[in-house]
Amino acid sequence: MGVAAIIPAAGAGKRFRGTTRKLLINLRGRPLLVQTLRVLQQSPSIRWMVVVVRAGDQAKTQALLKRYGITKALPPCVGGASRAESVARGCAALPPQAEWVLVHDAARPCVSLQLIERAVAAAKRHGAVACGLPATLTVKAVDEQNEVRLTLDRDRLWFVQTPQVFRRDWLAQAIKQAEHRLAEFPDDASIVESAGFPVRMIPGDPLNVKVTTNEDVVLAEAIFTRRTRQSA
Ligand code: CTP
Ligand code: MG
Repeated sequence: MGVAAIIPAAGAGKRFRGTTRKLLINLRGRPLLVQTLRVLQQSPSIRWMVVVVRAGDQAKTQALLKRYGITKALPPCVGGASRAESVARGCAALPPQAEWVLVHDAARPCVSLQLIERAVAAAKRHGAVACGLPATLTVKAVDEQNEVRLTLDRDRLWFVQTPQVFRRDWLAQAIKQAEHRLAEFPDDASIVESAGFPVRMIPGDPLNVKVTTNEDVVLAEAIFTRRTRQSA
């Protein structure tokens, strides 16, 4: 029942401004990517990890894995132009024994061990799960002139996070079926959904923020500080 984690880290980080790349900025003493990997390394249910990086970044990433003791990581693999393509490449590099796949954004360093374990346990019951937050705001869909076309029923809407956990055979089959249109999929669950497999939403964690812009670093720092204080 081995779980392998795919960590997509091959994005361009375009919405982040600065001299250091988004995933390499210092977050409370370690590179952001390393902080994410350390949580996965500590998870009792994860056996293997595949970090998906940009072309040319493999050697540097391998050195980080060694330096920070990320011993569950297999050699990094190279991602694609879209997130789904990066995950597909990671999926192709999984060890044959892995029966479950957990996908987690490299850009979400504040994920907790508890959330990972809860997501894995739920996936083992349902086959495919995505963490998320029930919508707290009303969402409107508009046309090109910003004229409202649709007001959606908030009670049925979720904001999606990672981790997302799948039966490996479901994810692999779904990726194969969608091979030529992977760029269309905004998240991993939507690939699995497109193949007709049921995906359950489970409550994520509001503190599991994604670092997208520079402002998000302020949030991530504060969350890390609070965690460190709580565990002291
Ligand atoms: N990602 C990836 N391959 C891509 C695009 C994204 O592996 N072709 C990864 C990112 O590295 C990140 C995660 O998917 O860990 C979520 O993507 P996002 O937050 O959008 O990061 P970036 O794509 O790097 O940022 P931006 O969209 O601002 O360029
Ligand atoms: Mg992106």
